[in-house]
Amino acid sequence: MADLLQYRGAPDEPLDCLYLATAEGGAPLDGLLLPPRDGQPIAKAIAELGVHGLEGELLVTASPVKGFRRLACFGIGDPAEFTIHALRKLLRKILEQAGRNREYQIALALPVAPCDVDGPDARAVALAELALADYRFDRFRSRPDESTKVDAVYVVPLKGESEVELQALLERAQRIDTLVRLARDFGNRPGNDLTPLAFASEVASQFAGTSVRATIMGRKELEKENLRGVLAVGKGSAEEPCLLRLEYRAKKPRLSLVLVGKGVTFDAGGISLKRATDMAAMKHDMAGAAAVVAAMRAVADEQPALKVVGLVPLVENMPSGSAVKPGDIVALCNGTTVEIDNTDAEGRLLIADALAYSSRFHPDVLIDLATLTGACTVALGHELAGMFANDDALAAQLERLGTRTGDRVWRLPLLGQYREVLRSEWADLKNAGGSAGSLPASAAFLARFVPDGVRWAHLDIEGVAHLPKGHNGMPSGATGFGVRLLLALLGEMAHPA
Ligand code: BES
Ligand code: MN
Ligand code: ZN
Repeated sequence: MADLLQYRGAPDEPLDCLYLATAEGGAPLDGLLLPPRDGQPIAKAIAELGVHGLEGELLVTASPVKGFRRLACFGIGDPAEFTIHALRKLLRKILEQAGRNREYQIALALPVAPCDVDGPDARAVALAELALADYRFDRFRSRPDESTKVDAVYVVPLKGESEVELQALLERAQRIDTLVRLARDFGNRPGNDLTPLAFASEVASQFAGTSVRATIMGRKELEKENLRGVLAVGKGSAEEPCLLRLEYRAKKPRLSLVLVGKGVTFDAGGISLKRATDMAAMKHDMAGAAAVVAAMRAVADEQPALKVVGLVPLVENMPSGSAVKPGDIVALCNGTTVEIDNTDAEGRLLIADALAYSSRFHPDVLIDLATLTGACTVALGHELAGMFANDDALAAQLERLGTRTGDRVWRLPLLGQYREVLRSEWADLKNAGGSAGSLPASAAFLARFVPDGVRWAHLDIEGVAHLPKGHNGMPSGATGFGVRLLLALLGEMAHPA
């Protein structure tokens, strides 16, 4: 990841290129705080280049000032339509081009904020996107391409942005970047590398010596705590299932929050085997777990005035002679019995167990993130996560924070009547029914396991947590969805307005 620095502190030798985002209409340098000796010659060079700021326009010239070798102007079109998606695409393009050109030290002038991010956060969001713009997952390349990596991006300050303010923004952007990368890196790791126990023990060792206590509950403890849903799903795999528990408690917590993340390190579907097409994408089925781990990392670093517990059930869902079978009946953690009609609807068994188990931590607020259903992706595509909540204020808060951070969520109906299709002849309910209403039914299923009186939101992140190909400026693979949303939520809970 490139270092983010301020242009005020740029070295004496010239930077390789100044990248300038230019909007249609208006003067390109408006809003920027360039040193006066640079501003005029650059403005003149831009005028001579014929920059109009049209979307997709790209004009490059030799720099008229000695701070840079080149100037590159990227047009963004109408600033009123410059969305966070457009911003992401632009930043990715800039970092790619700089890398290809072997420009290791660049400056970036970004006078235009994304139009769909609420005012005061727009600059912070833009800088976090900048930090993430050169993300790639090259852990499994025998020879990662170092020659196209940009080392440093010097950010040109905006008018009225003091050195201290910009420094704080850059540091915050880099903190977010680190956490989103952490989630993406976990989310992208294949099943043979990231098994349930590998995931749990790596995370546990990362938390050693921090204020977050990590405990790995193996088969024996899962049995003791009646987490039979986790055990049932894990039965078909040679890899042992577990539940990773991450606990943090401030001295005087304002609130108690439990975060649950689905951690299926690979989802073959079990005996209800998935078809081969796209099955490889099921290596991303632990994206919810990755987001929760990243949020707990932030908790360890920032030590908010909260009690926060992360619960991460980890399994591999495989078919085998020992696998759970359609028709099998399992009593989950709160005693509710479930007929397993379809072993591929495994996520809800894990999440249900963890939701029920959360009662021992007496949460005020309970949030789960899960790549739960293909139906959610059909409904909302890769734009928004589906949200189900039993509390209007919590739902509204998550919606608001979603538009502030770019991790957007859309509320869908949480209604007990959708559970009708999950009526079982033999047990309290079954885990899958017909296709009509299967998405709200999945949430209605989970609602049965939420401890009484707890404010709860379920985020179905299947469509947004991993992408088959780049979309909206996000790279293909794991996106780290949810990390920024959870950070914002933790922030508001620790410092209520
Ligand atoms: N991890 C999958 C979600 C999924 C499904 C991702 C399809 C991509 C494509 C989840 O465990 C799953 O398999 N869900 C099933 C549930 C169904 C059997 C009720 C689904 O959505 O097809
Ligand atoms: Mn499945
Ligand atoms: Zn799954």
